[in-house]
Amino acid sequence: MGYQEAFRDIVLKPFREDEEINQEVHQYLVAYQQSRTEFSSFDHYIRMKILGYARTPCQTRALALLYSYTYMPMHLDGNKKVIEREYQAFFKPYIYQKPSNVWMIDVGCGPMTACMALADFQQSLPVKKRLELDYLGCDLHSFMIDIALNFSSQKNQSDLFGDHFRAGYPDIKNPHWIEQVDCPVKDGGTLVFYFSYFWEQGGVTEEVGKWVDCVKRISLQARAEDTFIVYLNRDLGGSNSAYTEFKQRLRERPDTLEVISSEKCNHRYQSWIGLEEWLTQGIVPKARPKKRTDLHYEILRVDWRHYEDAGANTLI
Ligand SMILES: C[S@@+](CC[C@H](N)C(=O)[O-])C[C@H]1O[C@@H](n2cnc3c(N)ncnc32)[C@H](O)[C@@H]1O
Repeated sequence: MGYQEAFRDIVLKPFREDEEINQEVHQYLVAYQQSRTEFSSFDHYIRMKILGYARTPCQTRALALLYSYTYMPMHLDGNKKVIEREYQAFFKPYIYQKPSNVWMIDVGCGPMTACMALADFQQSLPVKKRLELDYLGCDLHSFMIDIALNFSSQKNQSDLFGDHFRAGYPDIKNPHWIEQVDCPVKDGGTLVFYFSYFWEQGGVTEEVGKWVDCVKRISLQARAEDTFIVYLNRDLGGSNSAYTEFKQRLRERPDTLEVISSEKCNHRYQSWIGLEEWLTQGIVPKARPKKRTDLHYEILRVDWRHYEDAGANTLI
């Protein structure tokens, strides 16, 4: 089973087949029908009014599914674009040519978007060149993780991810999970902290210190040959943004972070259109090509030894 089929089963079907989800989405549909003239479609209404351009906390299963329907394809193709663009400069020399494996921590993983993009890209490579990938997804909202788990526990999982993939999720009911993460990348291999459309989420500004400590502690513990931070978003954040503060606080010395890439580019993606018809008439939404012009990304290399010198190993 490929990604498209998995998407139909995991994301599209529950809108019609799961009563609780169907009821909640129907309420949104009624509200949309009363204000129809303000929006070009129900899809538009969901994106703008209900999901607040991906900033609404997905605190119900229906909201997490609506996020996956609306944003997962866009972000997945954005991540794929970055992986393809940076393959030569980043992934190949630093990752593929190494004997040891990669550990990826996907912060605010949502339905597993970035991992799916990497997995999809991997599948296009000869088997010998595929990564040994340990993946840890984490998200504030359990409904997002449920969707990610559905993707990662597909019966034909190896069709989606290949045989070189091991996924794990923290116990999000345990508030101390991050202090307890045990990183298996020892003396070699690559550690990647991945932030895809994470830093503009509400409440993240107050959590900068938590993610700074996380990067310092885990990278010191892992002692990976290479440690990277990958960032994607619709902008790079202003001088007061949470992401800028995160970088400032990680920079123990001027050269703690080396910028491998910092780019803006266009990307094409498949957008699903027709949620109203799917709910009311059972007509399957269609994937249409769209274009975005605001994909910003950065890849930073972290010299974790600077944290050791600074005495940050007391964090371990
Ligand atoms: C815009 S979505 C991005 C999801 C995914 N990375 C992607 O690219 O599609 C932001 C995600 O961050 C999660 N999130 C928000 N605040 C968080 C926090 N403080 N800690 C962990 N996850 C958080 C949200 O639940 C949501 O799944």
